[in-house]
Amino acid sequence: MYEIVRKWENGRFTFFPSIGMIGLRHSRDRVADRWAINKAAKALKAAGFEVEVEIDDTPRDRAQVLADKADRLEDRRHALAAKAERHAGRAAAAAERANDLSERFAGGQPILLGHHSERGARRDQKRMDTAMRKSVEEDTAAQQAARRANAVGKQAAYSARPRVTARRIKKLEADLRRVQRGLDGYERVFRNHRGEPYYIEKHEPATGQHRERLLAEQAHIENQLAYERQQLAAATQEGEFVEWGKHNIHVGDRVWAWGYNGLAVKTNPTTVRLDFRDHWQPKVPYTDILQVECPHGDKPSLAGVSEPARAQPARPKVKVPKLDTEQLQAAARRASSVRVGRDREAFVSPPAVVDKLMELADIQPGMAVLEPSAGTGNIAAAAVERGAVVDCVEIEHSLANLLVERVPGVNCVRRQDFLDLEQVEQEAYDRIVMNPPFSGGKDIAHVTHALRFLKPGGRLVAVMGSSVIFQQTKVAERFRALVEEHGGEFEPLPAGSFAPATDANTVVVVIPAQD
Ligand SMILES: C[S@@+](CC[C@H](N)C(=O)[O-])C[C@H]1O[C@@H](n2cnc3c(N)ncnc32)[C@H](O)[C@@H]1O
Repeated sequence: MYEIVRKWENGRFTFFPSIGMIGLRHSRDRVADRWAINKAAKALKAAGFEVEVEIDDTPRDRAQVLADKADRLEDRRHALAAKAERHAGRAAAAAERANDLSERFAGGQPILLGHHSERGARRDQKRMDTAMRKSVEEDTAAQQAARRANAVGKQAAYSARPRVTARRIKKLEADLRRVQRGLDGYERVFRNHRGEPYYIEKHEPATGQHRERLLAEQAHIENQLAYERQQLAAATQEGEFVEWGKHNIHVGDRVWAWGYNGLAVKTNPTTVRLDFRDHWQPKVPYTDILQVECPHGDKPSLAGVSEPARAQPARPKVKVPKLDTEQLQAAARRASSVRVGRDREAFVSPPAVVDKLMELADIQPGMAVLEPSAGTGNIAAAAVERGAVVDCVEIEHSLANLLVERVPGVNCVRRQDFLDLEQVEQEAYDRIVMNPPFSGGKDIAHVTHALRFLKPGGRLVAVMGSSVIFQQTKVAERFRALVEEHGGEFEPLPAGSFAPATDANTVVVVIPAQD
């Protein structure tokens, strides 16, 4: 059945699931669309249905109509507020997920190309991006729903203002005149430039279905007019509204309207000509007037009467927390944008390792500190935090750039191979704290090279591969002898100290400078 009426009625008939019925959209409390209803009835008859048409569009009590509307608006506001909450909840959950995933990169750990951790890191990066996007989308939806919830009812509040009611009354009166003309019949006279009639259009009084519709419309308008007039009378009585017109506005009065004020220069039946600034003299409808001051003193001043105080108590604003998605996005982008070859062995020191190094290095404020394989600056940052003047060396430019961004307090960063560094402006350092690459004895080479930059009385603390303490190669043996000579010692770090990036076993060597 729905298919038949829908086809005939250009889609204006809709199925309303909440009441389980077919109906015409936007037809509530309006004059019934007889044309559409009859067309649909005809179509149903043609399809073999037995149809009986009965139309009852007696207007409902206007106050009841508005109360129902207010209820519907309130329901809508609640639904939108709940929607905003739901989206905000999802946005927060997605942001948390993104944050958890970004942990992997947050410590400055870059993606190591070719290393077995690369796959996991890329997967995490992808998941993090997805979670981030989701959180941004959900956040936008939450804010939008909150805005819509707050806008609900604003139109109704506006249309309840007495000035707006007054304008509506004028419009309804005009509508009523139009309907009456239709019922009584009328003539339209077309005149030439001399004012002589040259054609008269005759409209007979409405009959049949048209008349029926006009009568229903008349009843609706009268019903609404009665209500609006009652509202306006109440507002007038309470001093919230003044009906302006020729009877209470003089030439020379100061009149406020349209955000300006000007002097009345001529009063007409429905408008007043006002002289605003710069001799701009528009005709302003009386219904647009906000306030009038009468300087003549021959009638009570009506100054101060402006907008109604009939406003409803302000409803609490629907607010959902706004995520700082900008910051979140920037941090994540930075964290995962850097990729370096696995041969750089850029396994950054996790917080526990940094703490251990700081404990052993005992850095005091003002000390000169060197970090000769600085990576993304985790060790350098801890030294800066302790008030040291920190110089760094890092061969990989992308890491050095990230270091400068992450640790703005470093003194200088040299982008070069540390093993090529022969001299520095700084004569020597109080502390050298490092975590160099390990493979193929690189750690021994780096630590041995670093010792030349140590001040007398200074101390070097370095993470090294644990093989340095047991390997039976000449290089390793010589190194152990060197450490002993300096009175230094090795301390093993717990297994898995660099997991998940690498599961290599490590030690920390502490070497005091030779006097
Ligand atoms: C194991 S990571 C340690 C990073 C940082 N020190 C930390 O603990 O977080 C080693 C770093 O040394 C850098 N590197 C490797 N060879 C280097 C060299 N010859 N000169 C300077 N830096 C080097 C790598 O790029 C990498 O960032």
